[in-house]
Amino acid sequence: MTLEKVFDYYKQNKVFTRQQLVDLLHDDRPDTWDRITYEADQVRRKYMGNAVHIRGIIEFSNHCFRNCSYCGINRNNPNLIRYRIPPEVIVDTAWEAAGKGIKTVVLQSGEDLYFTGEMLADIVRSIKPTGMAITLSVGERAEADYRLWKEAGADRYLLKFETSNSKLYTHLHPGASLHKRLYCLEVLRRLGYQIGSGFMVGLPGQTEEMLADDIIFLQALKPDMAGIGPFIPHPSTPLGRSLPGNVTLSLKVLALIRLMLPTAHLPATTALSSLHQDGRKQGLNGGANVLMPNITPIQYRKLYEIYPHKAEIMQSPAELYENIAQLLTQMDREIANDVGNNWTMSS
Ligand code: 5AD
Repeated sequence: MTLEKVFDYYKQNKVFTRQQLVDLLHDDRPDTWDRITYEADQVRRKYMGNAVHIRGIIEFSNHCFRNCSYCGINRNNPNLIRYRIPPEVIVDTAWEAAGKGIKTVVLQSGEDLYFTGEMLADIVRSIKPTGMAITLSVGERAEADYRLWKEAGADRYLLKFETSNSKLYTHLHPGASLHKRLYCLEVLRRLGYQIGSGFMVGLPGQTEEMLADDIIFLQALKPDMAGIGPFIPHPSTPLGRSLPGNVTLSLKVLALIRLMLPTAHLPATTALSSLHQDGRKQGLNGGANVLMPNITPIQYRKLYEIYPHKAEIMQSPAELYENIAQLLTQMDREIANDVGNNWTMSS
């Protein structure tokens, strides 16, 4: 099928078939990439407008009881100083961000049961009066905790499925299952959270067919937000000697997701900008409408090393905000002045 025919099909059906996705991912001609990016940019403009949502992320603990084989903060990495940010500092950091006009705060950590349901609920309650939307991203927890946090005022939950291939999932996440992860997403949705999910591109053992399945899976899941990033090998993990994910392929996947999920919030992820200087800009040019600057207090930032050479390790929140403002001005885009809920998808 020619590219023209594939896009005719898309325009009639608003989806691609699995085979079309595989072919598009496989086809590495620059024209194909340009076309996918162009179409994704059109769809982003039409459904999401020119506003870019800023979600400030606070990585509040790098303790983790899991041993995911790609992740640098997995429990078996001995070459890492572990930290927990005191609750009052987490809350102060969020208030500062609110003062700078940031409208969403994302609280992320390793799976760390030191932060009990009640402790996190208290943190959420203390941040709530800022008026910011609150996203939690702390992994798989009991339904009772998810409920407590929702009642405390959390709005959204980010839990990536990482790969929709259950064999690969089990291989990468010893002792865990895709089934359990999807169950958590279901519970979160039932409790009324806006759901964020997503996956990695270029995982060892991942094929183009699996990526096509990931895209189709994501479409069926209908998350309010989806984060896509290239896999980056971390030397202190079992996958430390693997090749990194390809940036172009990741950008292509991002653009295809914009085409398949026109109204989802899609960040140009930190992993993209970590592998490629222009990654963030290219993401915004090819379907993305969200940026997630790291507002973790600087002394902790380099310790949240899920992968090496993470971008934005040293800049203050003010500098990051300034960089974003400059980039968006250059690109003729603006910073959103609403919290960026996605009620169209969740209702
Ligand atoms: N490379 C790229 N992304 C990673 N993540 C974790 N480890 C890596 C890695 N080595 C991503 C996962 C996780 C998010 C917090 O970071 O997708 O959901």
